[in-house]
Amino acid sequence: LNNGLALTPQMGWNSWNFFACSISEDLIKETADALVSSGLADLGYVYVNIDDCWSAATRNLKGQLVPDPKTFPSGIKALSDYVHGKGLKLGIYGDAGAFTCKVRPGSLFHETGDAQLFADWGVDYLKYDNCFNLGIDPKKRYPPMRDALNATGRTIFYSICEWGVEDPALWARGVGNSWRTTDDINDTWASMTTIADINDKWASHAGPGGWNDPDMLEVGNGGMTYQEYRAHFSIWALMKAPLLIGCDVRNMTAETLEILSNKEVISVNQDSLGVQGRKVYVSGEANCLQVWAGPLSGNRLVVAFWNRCSKAATITARWDVLGLESSTHVSIRDLWQHKEVKENAVASFGAKVDSHDCHVYIFTPKTVAHSES
Ligand code: GLA
Repeated sequence: LNNGLALTPQMGWNSWNFFACSISEDLIKETADALVSSGLADLGYVYVNIDDCWSAATRNLKGQLVPDPKTFPSGIKALSDYVHGKGLKLGIYGDAGAFTCKVRPGSLFHETGDAQLFADWGVDYLKYDNCFNLGIDPKKRYPPMRDALNATGRTIFYSICEWGVEDPALWARGVGNSWRTTDDINDTWASMTTIADINDKWASHAGPGGWNDPDMLEVGNGGMTYQEYRAHFSIWALMKAPLLIGCDVRNMTAETLEILSNKEVISVNQDSLGVQGRKVYVSGEANCLQVWAGPLSGNRLVVAFWNRCSKAATITARWDVLGLESSTHVSIRDLWQHKEVKENAVASFGAKVDSHDCHVYIFTPKTVAHSES
């Protein structure tokens, strides 16, 4: 969507994966505080997004949405003032149907008024879900909210949460700033790997202004190992997925914070070229040894070695698989070890990768000086 936003994938936090409906204004404020004090805000995680369950069960007599008086007694405007005061942005959640997934009032046929209310509250981001959609085509239900948001004059990030059901990658680029390509993620290796593979199919549709959304991060929620979370974060970054933290940032382990704060991996995600990297080579039993790669600005490449097998193994990338001439000299930097691992690799590069771990490299091809003799 050409609204000036999402030139790189959005970064921030969302309440759903860890808290579901157990949310409150205090939680949102404490999260904003923690994003700042942990240093995550400075790394680019600026959207603080409230998911489902913020609203009361019914609209008021004017037909407006109302924050739940028990959990958000001070209202959303006060919350956005607080979040803005920290240098962050506030996101909210709505639904392109009669109700949200947790049966709060939906915004279908209320687009104009609801968008204006969000703008008046100082909201910067809308995640717009797909429950209770009355069987109406999403291509009819999502554009009206885009137009209503646009008409408010406030710049609001528009995140389409249609779960990939009507192949949104094929039509949503002009409608939203990101679109979900899959069903909900859960905090397991099986869910994470399945979702990565589905999202990969839509790679060619992503780019500045609109991104494929394989759903929010589970890093730090406890259901995967350190290596698996590192792989999850690496592949999401390489796929130019939104980096929306889904854990309790007030209580993170050092390992969780280390993964989420890897600046070098974040810069892959935020690279100005904005091309979604993809799975480019597989080998091993059930194709569990994988090379994922994509172009970056400055003629560089990001290359990930992802071992989805149950044992450690060597993964090798040949230059032809990466679209490089086999004689090209490449310097290679490892973004988890934070060091150069090879000065002048030629033709191929291999490394041993632990089970379920993922290495991420930046490949910088050297410009060869052609001598005319
Ligand atoms: C759907 C969405 C989730 C979350 C819940 C809230 O399942 O896909 O991301 O927003 O609704 O009810």
